[in-house]
Amino acid sequence: MDFKLSEEHEMIRQAARDFANTELLPGVIERDNKQEFPAEQIKKLGELGFLGMMASPEYGGGGMDTISYILAMEELSKVDASASVVVSVNNSLVCWGLDTYGSEAQKEKYLSKLTTGEALGAFCLSEPEAGSDATSQKTTAIDKGDHYVLNGTKNWITNGGSADYYLVIAQTDREKKHKGINAFIVEKGWEGFEIGPKEDKMGIRGSDTHSLNFNDVIVPKENRIGEDGFGFKFAMKTLSGGRIGIAAQALGIAAGAYELSKIYSKTRKAFGTEIMNHQAIAFKLADMHTQITAARHLVMQAGWDKDNGLNYDLSGAVAKLYASQVAMDVSTEAVQIHGGNGYVKEYHVERMMRDAKITQIYEGTSEIQKIVISRAILRD
Ligand code: CAA
Repeated sequence: MDFKLSEEHEMIRQAARDFANTELLPGVIERDNKQEFPAEQIKKLGELGFLGMMASPEYGGGGMDTISYILAMEELSKVDASASVVVSVNNSLVCWGLDTYGSEAQKEKYLSKLTTGEALGAFCLSEPEAGSDATSQKTTAIDKGDHYVLNGTKNWITNGGSADYYLVIAQTDREKKHKGINAFIVEKGWEGFEIGPKEDKMGIRGSDTHSLNFNDVIVPKENRIGEDGFGFKFAMKTLSGGRIGIAAQALGIAAGAYELSKIYSKTRKAFGTEIMNHQAIAFKLADMHTQITAARHLVMQAGWDKDNGLNYDLSGAVAKLYASQVAMDVSTEAVQIHGGNGYVKEYHVERMMRDAKITQIYEGTSEIQKIVISRAILRD
């Protein structure tokens, strides 16, 4: 067993770290305050190849492994989780889904733009009444021969306002339940496709979350992904990989909060000494380090499973469940270590604590991860 990263992996990690510190850090507090989408930074990330890292090179992708993607996600998330969720959705839900299951024509037309940042993608599964219970899709796509007619509402869609292409999951035949669900590529601007108001969120405020309305939107049949009825499996399989990306995001938030806490503990003085010299603080840092190390192993294992053709539904869910709990615990302790300074924006850790919470909610809540895990471990 070899835990050492390759030279190439180290280079990717360093490139993501440099980008985070030079391009994301300077405006991160302001973007959070103003709920401003990091458009310029995302464009640059696309140019540098961070938006289609794992996609096939013939469609503009980086052809990299999941470990590279995890390393990049961790580094970007240490500084700006609003930007890293854009990277995560575009890489693992949109590009990976299209690269793995899309037709040649779909890959040429859509994937080749999504990998380079020329276009941005969104993944549209959640609905007002179907967040966790994903089989209960109310959005319908009625088969009209050479096209489908799409009607319904999607909620909490990351990149909702900024995306160009949307992967939309909808019910084609209700009688067939999950086997009657399909996934479609829908372009922004198509008649009847309306973008709803932006959500005013607790965290990841720089990311752009909207509801979407589809009113008799005509979707050509060639924009359906896979065979008729493949949509639910498409969503589940894509989300399994997506969960590794969000686990890496959670890991990054925790690691970012921990690193700031360590620096603060070495400089802030109380009772005549740097606070790191008080066991109350040193023990907190020891716990944070231990939790982060354990989370990193789980996230890497899930990535390794995926890269080696093994089943990663279980390891990805385990990684997401644990890393998101660690993100919440560590960021909360980081605020505690910073005391009053932790409660104000300029020290970053209060934002990290707010950002951490979403990792326990999106791409399947912690409770959903426990459903996935318990079913898998009780199956044998
Ligand atoms: N891969 C392939 N197929 C899978 C699968 C997987 N990981 N998980 C389930 N399936 C298949 C099953 O095999 C089954 O197919 P068969 O009938 O052919 O055997 C079918 O899907 C139905 O499976 P279940 O009976 O297990 O379905 P369920 O209704 O009990 O639900 C669930 C399963 C795991 C709870 C699922 O509904 C789920 O994951 N819910 C959460 C959805 C979610 O993550 N939403 C987040 C939205 S996206 C987002 O947040 C993006 C963002 O903006 C950041």
